[in-house]
Amino acid sequence: MRAPWLALMFASLLALPLAGRAQAPAIPAAQTDAIPAFQHVDSMEARVQGCVTCHGQSGQGTSNGYYPRIAGKPAGYLYNQLVAFRDGTRRYAPMNYLVAYLPDPYLKEIAEYFSKQRPPFAPAEPSGAPAAAVTRGQTLVTTGDGKQGIPACAACHGTGLTGMEPGIPGLVGLRHAYIVGQLTRWKVGERHAAEPDCMKRIASRLSDADIAAVAAFLSQQQPPKDPSPESSNLVRMPLACGSQR
Ligand code: HEC
Ligand code: HEC
Repeated sequence: MRAPWLALMFASLLALPLAGRAQAPAIPAAQTDAIPAFQHVDSMEARVQGCVTCHGQSGQGTSNGYYPRIAGKPAGYLYNQLVAFRDGTRRYAPMNYLVAYLPDPYLKEIAEYFSKQRPPFAPAEPSGAPAAAVTRGQTLVTTGDGKQGIPACAACHGTGLTGMEPGIPGLVGLRHAYIVGQLTRWKVGERHAAEPDCMKRIASRLSDADIAAVAAFLSQQQPPKDPSPESSNLVRMPLACGSQR
């Protein structure tokens, strides 16, 4: 028979709130595995329950255009964002609050979990943008604008716009409102990435009309058959990015 103290110890661990579990003393896996009721206490499904109302069960996003798809983005990118929210260098109050005291290894595991998800993409919503804006958006995304010093977005975000390992996110599956929000934040200096912050330089060269144009085009794109990020290709990148080191 098991010692009663052992049962007591497990019972008290169970009573801890989920976030507190991160700091709880580790129980050797052999012990927890022996008791079915304890196997799923800190499962990834349990950890991400606080995320699904906004990001969807597998990170696919929800009908709210400002809640981004996070599934399938490179783990390095997702991890950088979670650390930035925790440390307050990227600001969105509910996100800052949710990850406030979580340690690095815990955030890394969450990032890896969502990077491996491949839920289907929601059908693109009609943007209602004038055809000329969509065409301008397409030009910026696929070839850039040499005169304005704007490189093609696809050079870094991938020809299928599925991102590039380890630090560049896919843009396919993001909605109009979110894309406009992020580019505007970079432009006005509210969003930052590791130096050299290539997105800061690019967003500063985009006019408000160009931001609307790229958002109109990007939000219409369908994912390629394999939506996985491309492998790292520093040679193809027109600017250096700190997040890509
Ligand atoms: C209340 C809704 C809400 C909840 C709950 C929420 N998020 Fe978010 N999350 C957002 C919004 C909105 C953004 C974009 C914020 C911004 O930059 O303006 C975001 C951004 C992110 C990003 C960056 C996405 C990108 O492409 O840059 C990651 C990663 C993320 N959330 C992960 C999580 C995880 C993990 C959880 C659960 C622990 C979670 N979120 C819970 C709303 C939410
Ligand atoms: C030189 C490489 C490079 C080019 C070119 C580039 N990007 Fe990026 N982009 C990045 C990197 C790196 C990040 C991630 C930065 C970070 O760590 O937060 C990023 C992030 C983004 C994000 C945030 C996505 C999210 O999920 O929050 C958007 C939106 C974006 N880029 C749009 C564009 C657009 C539009 C263009 C073309 C006008 C463009 N990018 C061109 C490197 C690039």
